[in-house]
Amino acid sequence: MSFPKNFLWGTATASFQIEGAWDEDGKTPSIWDEFCEQPGAISDHSNGKTACDHYHRFREDVALMAEYGIKNYRFSVSWPRILPEGTGKVNEAGVAFYNALIDCLLEYGIRPWMTIYHWDLPACLERKGGWVSEQMPEWFAEYTGVLADRFGDRVKDFFTINEPQCIIGLGYMTGGFAPGLKLGLKEQVTACHNLMKSHGRACQVLREKVKDVRIGYAPCGASVIPKDEQNPADVEAARKAYFAVEKDSPSFSVAWFSDPVILGTYPEDGLKLYGQYLPEGWQEDMKVICQPLDFYAQNIYEGREVRAAENEDGWETVPYPAGYPRTACGWPVTPRALYWGPRYLWERYHVPFLISENGMSSHDCVMLDGKVHDPHRIDYLHRYIREYRRAGEDGVDIRGYFCWSLMDNFEWARGYSERFGLVYVDYPTGKRIPKDSLAWYAETIRTNGENL
Ligand code: NOJ
Repeated sequence: MSFPKNFLWGTATASFQIEGAWDEDGKTPSIWDEFCEQPGAISDHSNGKTACDHYHRFREDVALMAEYGIKNYRFSVSWPRILPEGTGKVNEAGVAFYNALIDCLLEYGIRPWMTIYHWDLPACLERKGGWVSEQMPEWFAEYTGVLADRFGDRVKDFFTINEPQCIIGLGYMTGGFAPGLKLGLKEQVTACHNLMKSHGRACQVLREKVKDVRIGYAPCGASVIPKDEQNPADVEAARKAYFAVEKDSPSFSVAWFSDPVILGTYPEDGLKLYGQYLPEGWQEDMKVICQPLDFYAQNIYEGREVRAAENEDGWETVPYPAGYPRTACGWPVTPRALYWGPRYLWERYHVPFLISENGMSSHDCVMLDGKVHDPHRIDYLHRYIREYRRAGEDGVDIRGYFCWSLMDNFEWARGYSERFGLVYVDYPTGKRIPKDSLAWYAETIRTNGENL
């Protein structure tokens, strides 16, 4: 079997990770600009001030994508570039940048996929409470309205929010990501709720303003994989584990962030644990939160194996053996994550499915021959994409795959020490060098996966 005809192959990036130009043309600081200034926040003490300098080099980046046959590009918009005060006055120079990027993509026949929010909240809005503020859904709706008005004539595909789990779990719970807060359960639950309400408001605004719009959501979560997939008890155990809401906080949960958005309810186990912290009238909000979606996307990089067990949960995690293959940032290489994640999500939500991110960090370098050979990445992508195809063969409505990332970039709290790109970036000079994996991916796109 092969991939469906019209399968969407793409690459993904995010504004803060590639753009640089952190204070140019009227942009104000985002929470990540400020977080980078905190001593010890970023492991290599770097920041996003220049990053890949995509703000100035985007034409070169788009041309490179076109040269390698990439037809879909997922990028995000920097909110403080568009609305330097978070709301109110629109920064025309910021709009001009994205107009130029979108026009350039379209000239090359590349379909733009716009992520509205990929973590760079205007710092001024964080000072007003950020996601904990009940005003957030309206700020978000206003921002979305500007994107719809200014870009909706050419951009038809939108992702509302990228990885809510990291926004709240890492930003507001562990403090490892911007804005670096460690909030209690009540505030976390409020923030999760406001985030989903913001998603819902964005969907309403997009449907109202953008003709023929297609909308998706891009949450994340490690897949749960049945240890023995021939054993129905393990398959059931892994499903249960995947959708169980964690007992210490809901902020990293798959179901807590997706059930309301798709099914219009919080998961029952989560409600038992955290219902007491939900804002009053939350049931009414479900009408806003639960909006029809054109695709359900998820960022999936890894998974954990689970088997059935005779304990309270009915399942247990099986540790990976010593020496198990891992990526440069230590994540286990688990190709079946791209079979079981999509399959369980499709069975539960029944919305056409996209992988909005998948890829790996590896210790890439320019070798003696001046090229960047990255066989580990090729092997990783090969194995994962084959499993994804298997999910399609078994009935999951798979529509597309976005590789993370087009190019090496600022990997959040790990700075520039992790390289996820298909294109190598030499940061001191800004030079781009296509890695072997880019040529491999180009061939995968050209043959619609027949080479796998
Ligand atoms: C998820 C995030 O959306 C992206 O920004 C990040 O760089 C990759 N995963 C890799 O960690």
